[in-house]
Amino acid sequence: MREEMITKFQEIFDEAPQYKSFAPGRVNLIGEHTDYTGGYVFPLALDIGTYALGRKRRDRKFRFYSMNEPETGIIEVDKNWKYREKDDWANYPKGVVHILKSNGYTMDEGLDILFYGNIPRGAGLSSSASIELATGVLLDEMYGFQIERTKLVTYCREAENTYVGVNCGIMDQFIIGMAEKNRGLLLNTKDLTFQQVPLPLKDYSILIINSMIRRSLWDSGYNRCIEDAKRGEKILKDQGISTLTELTPRDRPLVEKHIKDPGIYGRIKHIITENHRTLEGVNLLKNGDIQGFGELMLQSHESLKKDFQVSIPQLDTLVEDSMNLGALGARMTGAGFGGCIVTIVPKVGVEKFKRAIIKNYEKTYGLTPEIYLVNSSDGAKCEKINREVNSQ
Ligand code: GLA
Repeated sequence: MREEMITKFQEIFDEAPQYKSFAPGRVNLIGEHTDYTGGYVFPLALDIGTYALGRKRRDRKFRFYSMNEPETGIIEVDKNWKYREKDDWANYPKGVVHILKSNGYTMDEGLDILFYGNIPRGAGLSSSASIELATGVLLDEMYGFQIERTKLVTYCREAENTYVGVNCGIMDQFIIGMAEKNRGLLLNTKDLTFQQVPLPLKDYSILIINSMIRRSLWDSGYNRCIEDAKRGEKILKDQGISTLTELTPRDRPLVEKHIKDPGIYGRIKHIITENHRTLEGVNLLKNGDIQGFGELMLQSHESLKKDFQVSIPQLDTLVEDSMNLGALGARMTGAGFGGCIVTIVPKVGVEKFKRAIIKNYEKTYGLTPEIYLVNSSDGAKCEKINREVNSQ
């Protein structure tokens, strides 16, 4: 792909690129809808992601081009850095440049940037945070800013929150910026302390199954989930509870007593139990108990379905079928309302498993689900392009 990208860059921008970056996508293993109330998450970075090539310009302009969206052509920005609906995907990299500029990072010369991504869009595998970080590390390296990585992650989230307008938590940008291959990352989203945790997979593989029901954070009730969670949090704060992670499933009577709205109660109940499952799940993995972890994944799905209410029948079917076909655990992953499930299955028989999943799903929904074998990856990185290799 790299050679094709370099050729395309030259074709589009007339000159050769100088730097290349890669930022992975992510799958969340457990800890869903907990990152906007300071809870725990446990995601993993994928080996699919966004590639970017960059070259400095002699003027102040920035030009963006995506090989995935050739119909939008080159998006050029000179002085007006405002969000523009018609710039579509390019608002993500534009947002990152804008946020860095507004935080005092000087970019006197502009850039030409070409992107290519292989994360299915709208599948809940974080294609947006991936393009943000691919841009972030490219800018950081090309201008020599040396921004501390957790700070860069925070800027990328700010771009999504304040520029694109999705109030997402920090999970996606954090794992994409900080991941280590073969490790899940347990993150406390309140204080950003984290641990890299090896995955004792041995005879098991992690699969992602795409329901092919495209979700969009805009159309979905994502921002509504946040509103409900914040309202519930506020009610409990008035009772002296400073954060939801202080509560455990045993505090249910207290929550029931104070939160009367059933919708909000369900959201809060999920968040409290999910925080607990996430910490417990990571402890099980540390003890090599992948079976136990699988059981918690299934409980997490049930809770997202019944209490938090962000699953859809297609995801439920995929979870149920996975379990019937011998998975250790399965759950919807990401915001919900469509997208993917993640499941842990024995390596032996994996092809048979896939065939059965596809057959049943096609029969029920008339759609063919895509199945991806998860290979993990390190976090986003950027390097100079070696000219000799380039000219070969
Ligand atoms: C989206 C958001 C994340 C997180 C998940 C749900 O992926 O970007 O911050 O809230 O949904 O866990």
